[in-house]
Amino acid sequence: MTATSTSVDLDAKIPNNVGLSDDPKLQRALEQWLPKYLEWWHDMGPTDFEHMPIFLRTAVSVDRGGWANYDYVKMPDYRWGIFLTPNDSEPTIKCGDDAGTPAWSDVPGEHRNALRRIIVTQADTEPASVEQQRMLGHVAPSLYDLRNLFQVNVEEGRHLWAMVYLLQKYFGRDGRDEAEELLLRRSGDEDKPRILGAFNQPCDHWLSFFAFTMFTDRDGKYQLAALAESGFDPLARSTQFMLTEEAHHLFVGDTGLQRIIKRSAELQQLDPNGDVRAQGGIDFDLIQRTINYWYTYSLDLFGGEISSNASTFFASGLKGRYHETRRYEDHKALTGDYRLPVVENGKVVEKDVPLRTAMNEVLRDAYVADCEKVIGRWNKTLEESGSPTRLTLPSRLFHRHQGIYAGHHFDPQGKLITVEQYEANVHRWLLVPEDNDYLLSIMKPCYEPGKFANWIAPPTKGIEGRPTDFEYVKMHD
Ligand SMILES: [Fe+2]
Ligand SMILES: [Fe+2]
Repeated sequence: MTATSTSVDLDAKIPNNVGLSDDPKLQRALEQWLPKYLEWWHDMGPTDFEHMPIFLRTAVSVDRGGWANYDYVKMPDYRWGIFLTPNDSEPTIKCGDDAGTPAWSDVPGEHRNALRRIIVTQADTEPASVEQQRMLGHVAPSLYDLRNLFQVNVEEGRHLWAMVYLLQKYFGRDGRDEAEELLLRRSGDEDKPRILGAFNQPCDHWLSFFAFTMFTDRDGKYQLAALAESGFDPLARSTQFMLTEEAHHLFVGDTGLQRIIKRSAELQQLDPNGDVRAQGGIDFDLIQRTINYWYTYSLDLFGGEISSNASTFFASGLKGRYHETRRYEDHKALTGDYRLPVVENGKVVEKDVPLRTAMNEVLRDAYVADCEKVIGRWNKTLEESGSPTRLTLPSRLFHRHQGIYAGHHFDPQGKLITVEQYEANVHRWLLVPEDNDYLLSIMKPCYEPGKFANWIAPPTKGIEGRPTDFEYVKMHD
């Protein structure tokens, strides 16, 4: 039964619009998972802020107009709910061989393994990012930013709930086992790491946090959008609702970096030698290295450029392209090639591959274009600030650990170079440990309402109509 509607049961132990009370077995399974989840949150969520009321939004409805409620809440009391965007018509499979036929309200046997893998991989990123960000509250540049960090954290927690619901409802014993495993893996752990590379990288300071929410959460947006086109209807509707929350995460990253860039330009002009660091700020080389680092790790998350898995997922209707329904006319993609650079005999040459095998690359294209737009806005900020500096995205061949470019060495412009050349220059291109030391030396907590750390400009407005000097986090209960 898929009793989902716009009516939300808010009083239930687990708020939901999936008719949980009509499915006692599932309800019990989820209620048994709840204390384990809370234990994980206590151990691996944000440290030391559990008793402080925070001005947070909570999803309470699936109405487009007013889906969230804003109020003070202590994080462990956050109401993590399960919400599916309602269907207004008979859903169909959006892409692949069976495009146009009715979507599945249950998991088809032949796609069970693939769907399980897709859902677990998505699910694993959610707690991973909370773990990566758990120490950042101690060096927050303002209460406004601290609140935004915690907003992102609790919503990643809710995204885990969204995926665990699908696992427990549709995958039986396997699903329950996966739900347990999701609470046992740890970001960066040698023995039990998170599944994907970017989610095992340290995120020790706010420059990385903003770059992570800008670039890595943005990968999340594209993965969720591709799954929102899935023929497995509950997955499509669950990811659709997750996207409404995701927009804020991207906003935090985009505007966070923009505010740093703005401030760095001010400090550059303030200093007689144009030395941003001499003024306690973050220099543009360091910002560029951070962009290079997180952008390339995020590119890896899209998977191989030429991929039989991607082809199968598309052909079976499990995962579509970005805005498959709106943007494309031919949903089968059986004809046509995709041209991409490959390394052959020590040279980069162009090669045509069948479109279906390039579906990861097609999704990556949409992502890259989105990132380019944001970089353009940041450069506008630089221009308006009178700074001659411009920021760029590195080539998508540079610093890759997945796909056909992994194992080769490229410079940020995409030129094939030797391993010696790469190693001699990599400190100029990517974040290095000394960068982290410097950043942590300037990042001291700034917890006074309306005050902002020296290395970042204040935001232009506050959250939900509140002023920027609002007490977004009550440090004393
Ligand atoms: Fe998420
Ligand atoms: Fe996110």
